Amino acid sequence: MDFTGKVALVTGGSSGIGAACAKLLAIHGAQVALIGRDEHRLNKIGEICHNAKGIPPLLLKLDLTEDGKCQEAVENTIQKFGRLDVLVNSAGKCEIGSLLDETTDVFDNLVKLNLGATYKMTHCALPHLIKTKGNVIVIAAMLYKKVRHGFVPFDVVNAGLTKFIKSAAVELATVGVRINAVNISVTRTNIMSNINIESPEERESAYRVLESVSRIKILEPEEVARMVVFIASNMCPSMSGANVCIDSAATSM
Ligand SMILES: NC(=O)c1ccc[n+]([C@@H]2O[C@H](COP(=O)([O-])OP(=O)(O)OC[C@H]3O[C@@H](n4cnc5c(N)ncnc54)[C@H](OP(=O)(O)O)[C@@H]3O)[C@@H](O)[C@H]2O)c1
Repeated sequence: MDFTGKVALVTGGSSGIGAACAKLLAIHGAQVALIGRDEHRLNKIGEICHNAKGIPPLLLKLDLTEDGKCQEAVENTIQKFGRLDVLVNSAGKCEIGSLLDETTDVFDNLVKLNLGATYKMTHCALPHLIKTKGNVIVIAAMLYKKVRHGFVPFDVVNAGLTKFIKSAAVELATVGVRINAVNISVTRTNIMSNINIESPEERESAYRVLESVSRIKILEPEEVARMVVFIASNMCPSMSGANVCIDSAATSM
């Protein structure tokens, strides 16, 4: 797969799955623009991308939930590279919340970032993706059959993302743009810090519990990135509206 001359914009590029996607796209020759809020992590991933093929990445330190920031990110990317071929939406978080909570803050936060920023980034990128016949990839959680306490907001938002790419694919087919999602089970990233599991030791023990209770393998972000790069390439040019599950068969259980 060769992305030479192509431009990829990756939200969540400073960490986890987004960072793995940015690095792999850079290895395959893409010019990459990375969005994140943590400057230190953004610089670190940017340096790795730069070292891949010697192409300096664009680092965009911004909060995608603030007004106008999605548009700003796309405009800066076009200003720097002159085109856009691939948009990877990986900015997001997981928070535990319930309808029984006093407020709807968790739901509001997840809707604004995971669903809202994905919708807005896709909307802002579209005029440029139409020109290049490019494509959009969304990272979403697999849809569990079993109901889990504390996951009503996260589950609803991920169902929304799954439906979003189906509906969007129909509209975008009319303008030659593809959109797909990669639906994942638990993946080894920094996402656990959203639920106050901070230290590497705490995370590893949480993963061990999940592996033994749910009988699913913890994914590495590099595996997800390989699927993202495959979808983003021209290997399968008719693939659109697909929800590709990487979940060790968890959705089949
Ligand atoms: N890991 C899993 O087990 C798992 C499972 C299901 C779904 N997912 C989904 O996969 C996606 C990627 O998550 P991950 O696991 O890679 O988590 P991660 O390592 O915590 O990365 C999340 C990324 O989102 C960025 N981000 C968060 N809030 C932002 C904001 N307001 N504005 C701009 N950027 C923001 C972070 O940037 P900064 O850190 O620089 O702020 C970071 O780059 C998310 O949508 C998540 O819901 C993950």
